Amino acid sequence: MRMRAVAALGFALAAAPGLSGAARAAEARFVGPKKCQACHFAEHKSWSATRMARALDLLKPGAAAEAKTKAGLDPARNYTAEPGCLACHATGAGRPGGFASASETPDLGGVGCEACHGAGSEYLKDGKMTLANRSYKRTDLIAAGLLRQDRETCAALCHNEKSPTHRPFDFETGVKTQVHALAPLKFPHE
Ligand code: HEC
Ligand code: HEC
Ligand code: HEC
Repeated sequence: MRMRAVAALGFALAAAPGLSGAARAAEARFVGPKKCQACHFAEHKSWSATRMARALDLLKPGAAAEAKTKAGLDPARNYTAEPGCLACHATGAGRPGGFASASETPDLGGVGCEACHGAGSEYLKDGKMTLANRSYKRTDLIAAGLLRQDRETCAALCHNEKSPTHRPFDFETGVKTQVHALAPLKFPHE
């Protein structure tokens, strides 16, 4: 039953624009942000303090009441278990290794590393993104499910009119102020 839902989602993702590698990403399992933290401590720390990391909280009754009313949502309702909201307010909702519920998978509430970068199980394998292979070829990782980090991907995944509170978003500013601290990559990946 779960497998069928996953297959359907893989299909939907593969059909979305700007998501090359997404069909394979749908086969990959979510590993959770602690795995990423081991090698990307600074990104993890700064991300933890963002609104993105806490995006699940916006679905709680009473949270962002004004914005909800304006968008025609019910501020008193608990939206934290609604798949139609969790698709963008949690990480990998309903997918293998992804968000199940706030109590079962507390690390996967909100917009986590893999919501933006893709489920990690395949691109973290030997010969891909590892300490022994710091000069990985980016195209190999994308084939294994790493998503491109650009405006088109963000728009296809979440920043679009399926969001009840959608407003035009400025990728360049958002990346600098709302995601995590950024450091130039040290190794060649072309
Ligand atoms: C075993 C260590 C390790 C783990 C675990 C790890 N990474 Fe990486 N990651 C690296 C290395 C090494 C690089 C390349 C760094 C460089 O060039 O300076 C990298 C690069 C990246 C990049 C840049 C991709 C690009 O465009 O080339 C992203 C995004 C990234 N990691 C995300 C993640 C995420 C998300 C996770 C968890 C799912 C994760 N990493 C887990 C070691 C790791
Ligand atoms: C397609 C992705 C998507 C879906 C589906 C989605 N959201 Fe969001 N939501 C976003 C994004 C992106 C933002 C932040 C920027 C914006 O408002 O567009 C956001 C922001 C919010 C905010 C804060 C708005 C503010 O101005 O403070 C609330 C509240 C919210 N969402 C509630 C919900 C609820 C409730 C649902 C389900 C009925 C839902 N969202 C479904 C993407 C989504
Ligand atoms: C909301 C989306 C989003 C989330 C969540 C996110 N990232 Fe990123 N990340 C990006 C974007 C966009 C870039 C590319 C920025 C650029 O091109 O300048 C990036 C770049 C990176 C890079 C390469 C640049 C650098 O700073 O080293 C790494 C590594 C990385 N992210 C790791 C992570 C990890 C680990 C997490 C979770 C703790 C995470 N990201 C969460 C969107 C996100």
